[in-house]
Amino acid sequence: MQPTVIAPSILSANFARLGEEVENVLAAGADWVHFDVMDNHYVPNLTIGPMVCEALRKHGVTAPIDVHLMVEPVDRIVPDFAKAGATVISFHPEASRHVHRTIQLIRDAGCQAGLVLNPGTPVEVLDYVLEELDLVLLMSVNPGFGGQSFIPSALEKLRMVRGMIDARAPHVRLEIDGGVKADNIAEIAAAGADTFVAGSAIFNADDYADVIGRMKSAVAG
Ligand code: DX5
Ligand code: ZN
Repeated sequence: MQPTVIAPSILSANFARLGEEVENVLAAGADWVHFDVMDNHYVPNLTIGPMVCEALRKHGVTAPIDVHLMVEPVDRIVPDFAKAGATVISFHPEASRHVHRTIQLIRDAGCQAGLVLNPGTPVEVLDYVLEELDLVLLMSVNPGFGGQSFIPSALEKLRMVRGMIDARAPHVRLEIDGGVKADNIAEIAAAGADTFVAGSAIFNADDYADVIGRMKSAVAG
């Protein structure tokens, strides 16, 4: 199990003040910045691209930027995100014709590689690539929107993937994304996650430090 990471999803931040919002969550104890990229094609929503990632770097953000690509095709945009300062780049296997090649492409670009499993995607997709990855991201909502409810079957999936990681690739982080709140994060951590994305639970709170602090203590037990 890797050390705990809390990664606020800026999807729920105030985009009119994005630099300040990111500074504030990092000052409040966040470890990474989760950066949701949606293309109105792979998912029915449209968000931000490499220019915004680069703007955050130019603004002075030095924390890891965890890019979650919900775009199709994937490969074309990978070098742009690497140049823009992405730390981790994760993609959905359904959006790439050649999953293994895309992983190599991300690593060759100097970034850490993650594979994202939708709620309906079987864990077998990890069978021949787990060792090549830095991170597995399990979706606990269907991708496309913030503020949805945690799908309970994700807990069993977390336990299965935790078993695979412990047995075969303990360097791999296990990240969960969707409906994570201070009051369910302990159960999610117990199921095996070490890296927690939370959008609405953090950015809709008045006090970011309070909610991040409560999340961290719940994970620590
Ligand atoms: C959904 C995104 C999530 C989303 C999480 O497609 O990948 O990162 O912002 O938002 P909450 O925490 O509100 O479910
Ligand atoms: Zn995400």
